[in-house]
Amino acid sequence: MKEINNQKGLNSMWTDSLTRNLHPDGNALVDHLRTVHYKHTGFTEECASCCRDESGRNSYEWLAELVPDNESLNVLDLACGSGPLLKILFDRNKNLNLRGIDMCPEELTLANTRLVNSGATLLQSKAQNLSAIDDNSVDIVLCHWALTLMDPIAPVLDEVKRVLTPKGRFAALVDGPMNAAPGYREVHDLIYSYVQQEIPSYGEIDLGDPRVRGSESLNNLVRKVFPELNVTIETNIVSMEGPVTQVAEIAAGFFYAAFILKPEKRKLMITSLSNLLAIYNESTDAERRGRFSMPISRLLVEPDTK
Ligand SMILES: C[S@@+](CC[C@H](N)C(=O)[O-])C[C@H]1O[C@@H](n2cnc3c(N)ncnc32)[C@H](O)[C@@H]1O
Repeated sequence: MKEINNQKGLNSMWTDSLTRNLHPDGNALVDHLRTVHYKHTGFTEECASCCRDESGRNSYEWLAELVPDNESLNVLDLACGSGPLLKILFDRNKNLNLRGIDMCPEELTLANTRLVNSGATLLQSKAQNLSAIDDNSVDIVLCHWALTLMDPIAPVLDEVKRVLTPKGRFAALVDGPMNAAPGYREVHDLIYSYVQQEIPSYGEIDLGDPRVRGSESLNNLVRKVFPELNVTIETNIVSMEGPVTQVAEIAAGFFYAAFILKPEKRKLMITSLSNLLAIYNESTDAERRGRFSMPISRLLVEPDTK
């Protein structure tokens, strides 16, 4: 990771707007996401690969399960980041025609390195405009942990609909309901309490379209765009255990909000978070173990197969 310990917090057009009590626009959101991903390229997979459900699957593997292992299909990974999902798909099924799009060049550079010789095509583009992809040409559109960041969201869903074949499917991994995983709300509230000391309205205003964060509102949003398709949302829990400070660092990595903290404040936040996540409080700091659990949801939009 680059500059994780720089002396300043992270500033972007988005944080500037919040600091001035303004509502950030779409350009400010893009600037913020690009800044975070420039400074912390690859952070999502560092976190998401470590957390596993009861069957031992991480969230990439849970999403990848929806893609058949033996068919030759056109698959698009929307906001593919550093490409971990595409790599899992390639390792499982060499007959897939894989494409990934993302708006952050640094993430795509990492993805290109890991996907060399896979035949995957990677494009720098915003999800709101997939003009490089033909109508009715994709069998499965996947999106791992990125739909929540997209605003406006309606053009993204319209583009997904346009590129899907008539039998095509759209599946996305998004945040699950906060109370579904034990202790998750407390982790969220702790991190946001530190962030709000720096920017009070962070949280009241957050990244992306808030409708994507609730299962019911997401369901309604998606049904409007795909009225003729089945929409299901399943919830799961992924967890990790390990030395408590390491668990706290990884847990904090799931929260974009944590990246805006200055190093000193971040250190204090990690100490509080370690205390919250510790499994046995009586051990010394060096031996303390911690556990973090997180709710995830898998949205699936598909034609009626009955
Ligand atoms: C949390 S990361 C997830 C990356 C990858 N899918 C993964 O799970 O490892 C979010 C990604 O979404 C991308 N992103 C966010 N909004 C986007 C948009 N409107 N168009 C294209 N990419 C976007 C970011 O550049 C970033 O790589």
